[in-house]
Amino acid sequence: MCGIIGYVGKEKAVPLLIEGLKRLEYRGYDSAGIAVLEDQGLIYEKCAGKISALEALLDDKKFDSTIGIAHTRWATHGEPTDLNAHPHLDCKGNIAVIHNGIIENYRSLRELLDRKGHKFTSDTDTEILAHLIEEYYDGDLMEATQAALSQVEGTYGIAVICKDNPRQIVAARHGSPLVIGTGKGENFVASDVAAILRHTNRVVYLEDREVALVDPESFVVSTVDKTEVTPQIQEISWTLDQIEKGGFPHFMLKEIFEQPATLRNAIRGRLNYEEGTSRLNGLNLQYEELHLIDRIILSACGTAWHAALVGEYMIEDAALIPVEVEYASEFRYRSPIINEGTIVFVISQSGETTDTQAALREAKRKGATVLGICNVVGSTIARETDGGVYIHAGPEIGVASTKAFTSQMMVLSLISLLLARMRTMSLERGREIIDAIYKIPEQVEQILKNDSYIKDIAEKYYQKNNFLYLGRGFNFPVALEGALKLKEISYIHAEGYPAAEMKHGPIALIDENMPAVVIALKDKVHDKVLSNIAEIKARKGKVIAVATEGDEEIADKVDHVIYIPQTVELLTPILSVIPLQLLAYHMAVKRGCNVDQPRNLAKSVTVE
Ligand code: G6P
Repeated sequence: MCGIIGYVGKEKAVPLLIEGLKRLEYRGYDSAGIAVLEDQGLIYEKCAGKISALEALLDDKKFDSTIGIAHTRWATHGEPTDLNAHPHLDCKGNIAVIHNGIIENYRSLRELLDRKGHKFTSDTDTEILAHLIEEYYDGDLMEATQAALSQVEGTYGIAVICKDNPRQIVAARHGSPLVIGTGKGENFVASDVAAILRHTNRVVYLEDREVALVDPESFVVSTVDKTEVTPQIQEISWTLDQIEKGGFPHFMLKEIFEQPATLRNAIRGRLNYEEGTSRLNGLNLQYEELHLIDRIILSACGTAWHAALVGEYMIEDAALIPVEVEYASEFRYRSPIINEGTIVFVISQSGETTDTQAALREAKRKGATVLGICNVVGSTIARETDGGVYIHAGPEIGVASTKAFTSQMMVLSLISLLLARMRTMSLERGREIIDAIYKIPEQVEQILKNDSYIKDIAEKYYQKNNFLYLGRGFNFPVALEGALKLKEISYIHAEGYPAAEMKHGPIALIDENMPAVVIALKDKVHDKVLSNIAEIKARKGKVIAVATEGDEEIADKVDHVIYIPQTVELLTPILSVIPLQLLAYHMAVKRGCNVDQPRNLAKSVTVE
């Protein structure tokens, strides 16, 4: 959500911290700040706005410091103003804290600190941490931080520096990710490996309630309650190329174009043509256990929730197992019924979304086996689940999810195949699906070749203020996803609907100014979708259709057709969403929007 980077070593800290912040900007981008330790003491700068605004503030100043912390914020408590930006300092200006997460008991702590005479300058929950550490500080920053954190309820990933300890950063985590990156004569702390990958790929993930004391040569980890911990160093396989734009104007476009490759990664080594099934060892379930599954709950947020809806259609259709899809934010507060045969899958690109984590924990509390479909290896959700399948899409930087979505659907198709082949699906049908899966990456490449045609359509419609997205069956969730993509990045109001539901309300909105994007593939509901199109046309609505290659007839019935290749019905969502991603992208660019960092959104939502 927000981004943290800290550095202690031999290089000048400021350029390194700014570079790290820029790589984290996708996490939060409404204000930013930096604190370093110079000979004259603790110096900090912070301001509302993007990292470039902070850079401008720093421009004419000369810093020599080789230690510092920096933050990019996505406001929760307190508006995105200069004062509310991090770092936050204690009364004397000796201790600086940056923080991701939410301190839930900050009001009572603030009252307590107020009574003790602490002076606050912001509306944030974070500021109480600086004052609380000050309250306990007696020359040992680690101990003071541990004492302060023992008073705190809520979530945090923090980094702290103090004027008296010019070679030390203290970092801690509870519910908000934090890694230590180890280098030669230098060490880093960060909320996300993307911030430090240029310098090191050797990291330690802190666990909840762990605190680390980091200096240039070493680091020690213990818990808030001072139990020593032996840290495990892991090597990150992501490369620098993957977190850079590689010639594309935006990460989002790069990620859309990466999909043939990311889909190949999702499939690699996981198909068994001989037996017409998939091989997903990470599920950590024996054949008998998989066979006993009689109900599946899929839980997620945002785009991952749309993937879950597609998963519902896939699993029920192929494996005939009843599936329920739950918003993670709802699931966590419901009384979900978990029986012996119920398996819960949580789906999350980042593996850090707070509501999804809470759903996972609630399901576990109720005795369910919980499996994950995650992208980020080593993320909280990936570590807390009993098993799962990584989608291997590589880092997704654009806030609007694209490649993670198609890979989530691909993995769900593999799960459907596995479960289906243990039940009623024939070998022949299994092989037919595998053949179709192998063709998908190439078919996505083919769709991407229509980019400039889709851009032309976008140029005709980008000034419209309302859009309707319609689809049926497997492609109903794709209509929801198409509408979400458009509203997220272009701020055009868009609604997704099951095509036939249109006549129960949204049809009232149709006129020449409300275009409809209709997924009208040659499938079992094709004729019915054509009737819905006729209903729109009769009301002078414009229709952009996503249709199956070879369906010439549809061209006369709509204003624009974007063709996608033929595949088995179960896999159509992976193809049909690609034109919708491009359409949203080009409309947003035409409207002058910042597609990689849409307003008010964050890549990974680590608050409730
Ligand atoms: C945020 C992002 C969405 C994402 C959702 C769930 O809202 O902006 O793109 O789909 O979180 O994130 P997750 O990392 O759990 O998939």
